[in-house]
Amino acid sequence: MPSTLYCWVLISLVAADRPDVIINDFEAETYGAWKTQGTAFGNSPARGTLPGQMEVTGFQGKGLVNSFLGGDDPKGTLTSPPFTIERNHLNFLIGGGGYPGETCINLLVNDYVARTATGPNRNAGGSERLEWASWDVSNLVGKTAVLQVVDNRAGGWGHINVDQIVQSDRPRGVAPKSRELTVSRRYLMLPVDNNAEVRRLTIRQGETILRDLDIKLADGHASFTVPVDLANAQGKKVEVSTRLPAGSKALEALAFSDKLENDLAIEARRPVYHFTSRRGWLNDPNGLVYFDGEYHLFYQHNPYGWDWGNMHWGHAVSADLVHWQELGDALIPREYGDMAFSGSAVVDDKNSSGFGKGGKPPLVLAYTSTGRGECIAYSNDRGRTWSEYERNPVIKHSGRDPRLLWHAPSKQWVMAVYDEGPKRQSIDFHTSPDLKTWTFRSRIDGFFECPDLFELPVEGQAGRSYWVLTAADGEYMLGSFDGARFTPAPGYEKKRRLWYGNYYAAQTYSNTPDGRRIQVGWASGVTFPGLPFNQQMNVPVELTLRETKDGVRMFGEPVAELKRARTGGFERSDLTLKPGLNVIDGVTGDAFSVEAEAEVPVNGSITLNARGVPVVYDAAKKTITCLDVSAPLSLEDGKLRLQMLVDRGSVEVIANGGLVILSKGVAFKGGVRPLEIIATEGVKVGRLSVDEFGKGK
Ligand code: FRU
Repeated sequence: MPSTLYCWVLISLVAADRPDVIINDFEAETYGAWKTQGTAFGNSPARGTLPGQMEVTGFQGKGLVNSFLGGDDPKGTLTSPPFTIERNHLNFLIGGGGYPGETCINLLVNDYVARTATGPNRNAGGSERLEWASWDVSNLVGKTAVLQVVDNRAGGWGHINVDQIVQSDRPRGVAPKSRELTVSRRYLMLPVDNNAEVRRLTIRQGETILRDLDIKLADGHASFTVPVDLANAQGKKVEVSTRLPAGSKALEALAFSDKLENDLAIEARRPVYHFTSRRGWLNDPNGLVYFDGEYHLFYQHNPYGWDWGNMHWGHAVSADLVHWQELGDALIPREYGDMAFSGSAVVDDKNSSGFGKGGKPPLVLAYTSTGRGECIAYSNDRGRTWSEYERNPVIKHSGRDPRLLWHAPSKQWVMAVYDEGPKRQSIDFHTSPDLKTWTFRSRIDGFFECPDLFELPVEGQAGRSYWVLTAADGEYMLGSFDGARFTPAPGYEKKRRLWYGNYYAAQTYSNTPDGRRIQVGWASGVTFPGLPFNQQMNVPVELTLRETKDGVRMFGEPVAELKRARTGGFERSDLTLKPGLNVIDGVTGDAFSVEAEAEVPVNGSITLNARGVPVVYDAAKKTITCLDVSAPLSLEDGKLRLQMLVDRGSVEVIANGGLVILSKGVAFKGGVRPLEIIATEGVKVGRLSVDEFGKGK
C-alpha cells in the first residue's frame, strides 16, 4: 500500500529528532555561570564518590553535582543561569535523597516551581546510582527558565546527585514497574542486552528479598539470557520489580526454564582447556583448595551480565584441573551493593574452628564483604553450601582479598590481606588459632591487591627454601616468613616477574594431595564478544624455585594433567629450518600445544605462527614477543625452549622451562594455517612436538 508507506516516510521525516541541547554535563573544572549558596555543593562539580559516601554510579563522564560534600548535613543550593526551553523534554540523571522540596531539582519559570524531582532514597541501605528522569516541558517551549538543585536536609539521605541535564525531543525517564510470577521451573531467565542501560532489579518472595542486582535488562533484542536459581521457591509467587521507561516491555520477556546449557554453536567457540564460566563475567580465582578428590575453583563472578558487577563467588570443580564441572554460585551478595569480593579457602584439618561435623574437617573460606569487612564462611558438604560465621566480620580495615594459610612452624593460621592508606598499598599479616579471632602482626608496603604467600623448596638443594610473596600484578618477592613477618631475602629485595600480558590476581591451591604448588591466574582482558560469557582463567601452572645463573627464580609450567588430556598430536626431531620453508603440517584443530627446542644463532630468530598469531624469539634483542606482549629472555647455551599453548581465545607462551610466560588474548581469524614455523638461516630444531586437545572426545 504505497500511500501508507508514503505517510510513514513523511511522518518519520517530520519527527526526525533534532540534536539534544546540553544544559550542563558538569565535566568542566568549575560550575561556570551556575551559582552556589551554602556549603553542600562546594565550589566545583564533584568527581564521583565523595569521602564517606557509598559508591556513586550511573553518572556520565567524570563530573557530577553531588551535595554529599562534608556528609549529609551541609545544606545549599546550586542555580543555573536563565536559559530558553527549546525542546519538549528535559532529561537528567538524578540520585540521592527522596525528599520533595528538600533534596530535589526544580525548574523555575517566572520564579515559580514548574517541575520538580527528587532522588529515590529515604531508607537506610538504598543505592547511590543515578537514574534518568524526564520532564515533559512541551507547554513551556519558548519560555525562559532556571534550574535549581536544592539540598535543604540534614541526616540520612540528606543529599542530592544530578548530572547530564539535556533538552531533547525524547524523554528518558524511568518509573517503577513490577511483575508477579509463579515459579514453575527452577530457573528464572532474565534477558540481557549488552547495549542496554544498567537497571536495578529486585526479586521478592513476600517480604523476603531473594535477589537484588544490577542488570542490563533487554527490552526487545537480547544478547543472551541469565538464570536466577529459584530452586527454593518452586510453586511460589515472586515479584520482579525494576524501573523502566514508559512503554517498556522488558518484564514481559521473563520466562522459566530447567535448562542451562548454551546452544552448541556457542559451545563450539568456548575455550577447550581454559576455564570460562557458562555465562556471565569472571575475574579473580578465589578459594583455590583441593579437598576429597576435587580441585575447587571459585571465582569472582557476575552471573547477570557480560561486564564486571554484582560480585558473587562462582564455583566449579575438577578432578584434573582441565575438565571443569560448574556448580551453582557459592556466595551471593548479602544485600544490594554488599558484594562478595576475593578471598581464599583452606581445609581445617584439626577442626580448630569447631565448624567441623561428624569428625570430618570443614572447608573454611575468607572473603571480603564490601559492606562489612573480612568474613569467614564454612562448608560441611564439600563446598556445595556455605554458612557464614555468626560473628562476621572478623577483621575491619581499609582493604580486601584475604589469603588464608596454615603456618606449621608456629602452629597458627595466617591471613595475608591487602590493606591501603592514603599513600600506601600494603599486605598485612594477621594470625589466629581458630580462624575466628585475628591479631594484626605486621605490614609490608608496595604490594597491590590479592596477596598470596607460600613456601617453596629450591629444586635440587636439600634444606633450602624461600617464602614467596605475590600480589595481583604477579610480581613476586623471595624471603622468609616466621609466622608474623615477611622479610625479603638478602639479594632478593627486588621483585621479579614470571607472567607477562593478560594475567592478574593469581592464587595458588592449598592442600594439594602431592604438595604441588599450583597457580591459577585470571587472564584479565581475554574477551569473547558475541558470546554469553566473558574472560577466562590462565592455564594452571605448577610453580617451582630453581637456581639460575642470575640466582633463584620462580618457574611456572603447565600442570602435567594438561599433557594427559591430549587427544592427539605428533613429534618430529632434528629439523633444519630454511627461510621461507614451513616444516610442519598436519595440525588441524584450534586448541593445541606446540613445544620446540631450538638452537638459535646469536643474530638469528625463530617464529612460531599459530593460526596467524606469531610468537617471535629474537636472539639479538634477547626478547620473546607475542603481538604486543614482550619479555626479556636469554638463550641457555645457545638454546631456546618454547611451549606455545593455543586455545580458542588466547595464546600462552612458556619459555625456557617456565622462567617467563606470556599470555595474550586473541580474536583469531579464519583461513590461516594452523601452525607454521619460520626461522632465519642456521636455526636447528632438535625436537618439536604437537599435542592436540578437544578432538576425539
Ligand atoms: C582484583 C579485585 C580484587 C577484588 C575483586 C573484585 O581484580 O579488584 O581486589 O576483591 O577484584 O572483583
